[in-house]
Formats: sequence, C-alpha cells, structure tokens
Amino acid sequence: MGTSTVVLSLSVLFVVLGLVGSDPDPLQDYCVADTKKGTKENFYCNGVTCINPEIVNTSHFVTSALSKPGKIGIVLGFNVTLATIFNLPGMNTQGLTMARIDIGPNNLVPPHSHPRASEVAILLKGSLLVGFINTSNHLFTQNLKSGDCFVFPRGMIHFLYNTDSKVQALAVSGLSSQNPGVQMASLAAFATGLAMPDKVFKKLFQINHQDVTGIRTSLGG
Ligand SMILES: *[C@@H]1O[C@H](CO)[C@@H](O)[C@H](O)[C@H]1NC(C)=O
Ligand SMILES: *[C@@H]1O[C@H](CO)[C@@H](O)[C@H](O)[C@H]1NC(C)=O
Ligand SMILES: *[C@@H]1O[C@H](CO)[C@@H](O)[C@H](O)[C@H]1NC(C)=O
Repeated sequence: MGTSTVVLSLSVLFVVLGLVGSDPDPLQDYCVADTKKGTKENFYCNGVTCINPEIVNTSHFVTSALSKPGKIGIVLGFNVTLATIFNLPGMNTQGLTMARIDIGPNNLVPPHSHPRASEVAILLKGSLLVGFINTSNHLFTQNLKSGDCFVFPRGMIHFLYNTDSKVQALAVSGLSSQNPGVQMASLAAFATGLAMPDKVFKKLFQINHQDVTGIRTSLGG
C-alpha cells in the first residue's frame, strides 16, 4: 500500500468514526422541540419530541438569547449563556448548541469537558489564554486575540482565561451536540453533593484533612 492509500484509508475511517460519534441525523426537514410536552409526558426518547410541522413558523428558528452579556458573579467570574432547544426549539435534532461566553478581567472558565461535543470558539473581544489537555496529559495552549478561533476536541479538558486586567472578554462557541454536557473538574471532585470520602482526596492529592475541607468549602461543596 502506498502512503496516499494509507492516508486515504485512515481519513475514511476517521470520517466514519466521526459520523458514529455525533448526534443522530434528522430524518425530516426539522423537528421543532415540543419543550412543554417533552418534559411532562411519560414518554422517553433520545432528544425531545417535535411539534406538528404544520404549526411551525419562523419564531421557532430565532432567538435573541445571546444578544446581552450574562451577569458575571463575584465567585464565578464568568457567565455562559446558551442557545439550546429550550430557547431555540428549531435546533432540536440538528446536533448543535451555541454559547456566549463572557469572562471578567483576569477571570477563568475553569477546566471542564463536554463528553458529547467538540467545540469551536471565536474570540470577539478581549484577549484569552485558552488550552486543552490531551489524554496523555499534554497541554495545548494559545494566547488568542480578537478574531482568532480555537477548537477544543471532544471530551478533552479545556479552559479559557482572560489575560486582560481591565477588559471583559467575549467569545462565542459552537458545539456539535444539542446536549453537550459539561463536567467541571474541580466541582466533580469537591462539590459532589454526597461528599467524596476525605481519604480518597488525601491519597489522591497528598493533602491533609484541613486542605480537603478548605477546598471543599471554597467550592461550595
Ligand atoms: C408562531 O408560533 C408561535 C408558537 O406556536 C406562536 O406563539 C406565534 O403566534 C406564531 N407566529 C405567527 C406569525 O404565526
Ligand atoms: C448568568 O447571567 C444570567 C443573566 O444575566 C443570570 O440570570 C445568571 O444568574 C448568571 N449565572 C451565573 C452563574 O451567575
Ligand atoms: C498528546 O500530545 C503529545 C504531544 O504532542 C503526544 O506526544 C501524544 O501522543 C498525544 N496523545 C494522544 C493520545 O494523542
């Protein structure tokens, strides 16, 4: 086999794997989410049921949800506003989510991952240090300036840090699932509701009981 044949076979394999990994394809033009019914019915499906296509109109495909910055808190120095099937029901079954990310000066969207989506972000305002960590724990990081895009591969832990001490940063992301899921590393460890046993953390991070309690308290766990 020549090099080009190998490359071609690999590309085909990756494309096929990619298709298997994403949200299921829609079988009709659209399936505008019936968000009221979907949550109350004793009927469970992968996604949300559609409203009657006969009553669909343009309002189901438009939202101004991302037009205003989210309110940035004191503890959490960032806010993520989403366009999802709940405010943009026409997105149901399209395999998409959109996010507006506002990050305060010198603030951070802490390391987190989306188990079901790849993400591509464009920085519209400010300066960001972004990065992700691959499964061999190698960090890929970059300083972004306005207009730059960065892709966070699916499932990889990633972060966004506003490097400017005065300007609030604004980025917009597209995610490749209507339900990307988000798992924040620090909260998954320290704010689990039913608390993870201290001895697990003491061993894991080589820290003492006071350290565990201190971190848990500051993360609201
Ligand atoms: C479009 O549908 C929505 C929700 O079903 C309804 O509230 C709205 O009045 C409709 N708009 C038009 C122009 O028919
Ligand atoms: C994000 O902003 C929205 C809109 O201003 C606000 O309702 C929400 O509480 C904020 N979320 C956090 C976590 O601060
Ligand atoms: C992670 O990145 C490092 C550095 O490029 C590379 O050596 C390693 O093979 C990568 N791991 C995977 C699983 O791709």
